[in-house]
Amino acid sequence: MPAMNQPAIRVADLLPPDHPLVDGRTTEAPLLRAAAGRSVPHTPVWFMRQAGRSLPEYRRVREGVAMLESCFTPELVVEITHQPVRRHGVDAAIFFSDIVVPLRAIGLDLDIVPGVGPVVAEPIRDAAGVAALRPLVEDDVAPVLTAVRMLTAADGPLVGTPLIGFAGAPFTLASYLIEGGPSRDHARTKALMYGEPALWHALADRLAGIAGAFLRMQVLAGASAVQLFDSWAGALPAADYEALVLPHVRTALDAVADLATAHGVPRILFGVGTGELLATMSSAGSEVMGVDFRVPLDVAAGRVRPGAGLQGNLDPAVVMAPPAVVAARVEAVLAQARRSGRGHVFNLGHGVLPDSDPEVLTRIVEQVHAAGPVPGVDDTPDPGPW
Ligand code: CP3
Repeated sequence: MPAMNQPAIRVADLLPPDHPLVDGRTTEAPLLRAAAGRSVPHTPVWFMRQAGRSLPEYRRVREGVAMLESCFTPELVVEITHQPVRRHGVDAAIFFSDIVVPLRAIGLDLDIVPGVGPVVAEPIRDAAGVAALRPLVEDDVAPVLTAVRMLTAADGPLVGTPLIGFAGAPFTLASYLIEGGPSRDHARTKALMYGEPALWHALADRLAGIAGAFLRMQVLAGASAVQLFDSWAGALPAADYEALVLPHVRTALDAVADLATAHGVPRILFGVGTGELLATMSSAGSEVMGVDFRVPLDVAAGRVRPGAGLQGNLDPAVVMAPPAVVAARVEAVLAQARRSGRGHVFNLGHGVLPDSDPEVLTRIVEQVHAAGPVPGVDDTPDPGPW
């Protein structure tokens, strides 16, 4: 209930009337219900990297088109985002893009090299480099937002399937910018963080501003949920994460906090190898915590803040195992989720591996759906006035 003197935030104040969360197309979607801990007719399921090389139809439309070029071509983004929804019947679409897209959009000279990942021409290691990171404005990502609008229009391909917008979190983005490309040990990044904390905070603050702005733009354009990828955060000890990274993750998530409160837009925070970080990461306030495959969901529940939902966490490598093994492992994840007592969004513990058989992914979706209804906080009997 709103406080006495504060007017309640009205739904129409923040999102346009044709937004799927305002006209009601996605308000009761299993993804949103589960993220809020409410009962669901079946556990919602989607896969990180569901749009990608595991799909022959993806490889076909990407032929001869560079990754970043495809990210700025609305018709391609719409088609690729829709492909896994069409094929697998997943409960969410993840927007086809990349974490470096907003950085490219503000003019950084970077590319995504096949088989490697993002590569930055001039790594950022000093104050002048940080100063080049200007704030992101809508015009920078106009074709990207056009794709979001096309996907989520009332007559668009997603109909009632929620679109998840996403951004890279400050540490993960900074690692690519400081190292100049993918890194196993993030050595230069850590050296800068620990050796020049003021420079680090300036860099991370700018990246948090860009990530937060990008998340907000995607929701305003039609996304119903967001995920912040702090993929490489697991490289850090908890104390360093808390002092040097967490404040910036909070800044990025805070950029959409009003949309989470007023419209129930769930904010999902995910990283790899973050078992030791789940408690501190969860204090950033995300509605849902992504859990990688190393920590059972019922164990993760003891680490994340009360009320937060869980997303995960089948090992992506299990998808390559024989069908009976896949089925048993999927059931194990569902059982751990039930024991956790938290809202659960089924996913892999990291992205789909490119060699995965897409038919196995479809079978996983069918199995998760066939497992049936899950109770939620709305089922808890009213304890009465005592
Ligand atoms: O389906 C989805 O999940 C949506 C699309 C998506 C992509 N990248 C498309 C992509 C998402 C959510 C991302 C995020 C991303 N990008 C992350 C965070 C997620 C994670 O994996 O932890 C990171 C670290 C990146 C950086 C990046 N971009 C890497 C490491 C790579 C792989 C390089 C390679 O070729 O192996 C990319 C390229 C990339 N992003 C591809 C896709 C489909 C492959 C490009 C291709 O098909 O040629």
